[in-house]
Amino acid sequence: MTRICIVGAGHVGLVYGVAFALAGNEVVAADVDAKPIATLAKGTPTFFEPGLSKALRRALRTKRLSFTTNVVGASGKAKAIFLCVGTPSRPDGSIDTMYLEAAAKSVGEGIRATKGYSVVAVKSTVLPGTTDGIVRPALEATSGKAAGRDFGLCVNPEFLREGSALEDAIKPDRIVIGAFNRRSATALAPVYRGVRSPRLTTDLRTAEMIKYATNAFLATKVSFANELANLCDAFGGINVDAVVEGMGLDPRINPRFLKAGLGFGGSCFPKDVRALVAGGRARGYGSRVLRAVLELNDLQPLRAVELAEKAVGPLAGKRVAILGLSFKGGSDDVRESRAIPLAKALLERGASVVGYDPEANSAFKAAVPAVEIAPDLASALARADVCIVHNDWPQWRALKASHFSGMRGDVVVDGRRILRRGAMKGVRLEVLGG
Ligand code: UDX
Repeated sequence: MTRICIVGAGHVGLVYGVAFALAGNEVVAADVDAKPIATLAKGTPTFFEPGLSKALRRALRTKRLSFTTNVVGASGKAKAIFLCVGTPSRPDGSIDTMYLEAAAKSVGEGIRATKGYSVVAVKSTVLPGTTDGIVRPALEATSGKAAGRDFGLCVNPEFLREGSALEDAIKPDRIVIGAFNRRSATALAPVYRGVRSPRLTTDLRTAEMIKYATNAFLATKVSFANELANLCDAFGGINVDAVVEGMGLDPRINPRFLKAGLGFGGSCFPKDVRALVAGGRARGYGSRVLRAVLELNDLQPLRAVELAEKAVGPLAGKRVAILGLSFKGGSDDVRESRAIPLAKALLERGASVVGYDPEANSAFKAAVPAVEIAPDLASALARADVCIVHNDWPQWRALKASHFSGMRGDVVVDGRRILRRGAMKGVRLEVLGG
């Protein structure tokens, strides 16, 4: 059992807080924002994540998880302190480390008077050099102690996917520990005792880069798949999934994360790739591959518009239904959802747009107020001239032609390649990628 303090009770902090508590550790999750802390302390998650609500209540019942707004006090009592605060994007794509620096200062204050050796681990996604250049000085200034000698300092990136975040935290596919020195790595190890996953110990900068490299590569895979889908459409008569299946049999490639669609969204991929490009630029390196990955991702939602226009002509005055508003199925998150540029492009063309999502309706309304939100699937499709399927909620896979019978038109654009073609008799299906 380790006494753990999590600083920042957002997506990452809460999921790890719950996971660490259920693994038998004593966890205090601290956040300067009193509102979410009060909600969480009552056992209600502040966002949708499958299984989290139950797991949070279970962790609270064990009394091994608690919440506080006192970051200084909580970090002073912990053996391992995880910094899980947000690193928002600036307009130029670079990341703002203001919250991280403030959190590190509070933690430094907290560990000032402690006697034992505690370890501070950065879980926030930060560019190489940030932990040593910003977090360490902040910790040392307020604690009056030296990193490595008096307290441990590590970078311990997270690889949580929304929708399976809890599982990813409990059974990670790898544990990467970037350590300031050997003693820091040793101090963090007990937290992951009992977790059977491959481990890699590196220096701080390498661990910081591993996180970006992972997300940049996965985003590149998605953009590659999307480019392939567009090429399949240009050649005609080729199904991109069959191509990916054939490619994926090459063990050097593997077929995962090559599902074509309308682009990648979410809180990580777009932000992290932009930050890496901006970070390279600031250091005199102009990215080529990653800039192209982002460029294609910006254009990809327009492919659904093109397919719709090809089928029904100009969209002005037409009613277009978008199924799926969150950035991916299984999530209520609309951050960087490709449904946002998709809806805006449709509105710009003079279409009226109605959207429906099993979880993300109100968040999407706030993001694009001009979109009408339907209370259910049937109302979204009623009188629609065209329907565009944007994300991959499992319920779309169950759809049959009869579900679309209330539409005025008969064109359905499958932007996620999720509908079962055999079940769509009588529907004019336009599938991205053949
Ligand atoms: C991602 C990483 O997977 C995770 O390791 C990291 O910690 C945070 O970012 P997440 O944002 O939850 O997780 O979503 P993910 O499932 O990776 O999908 C990202 C985007 O790519 C989504 O918009 C998804 O629809 C899209 N995608 C993914 C595809 O278009 N095709 C694919 O084959 C896979």
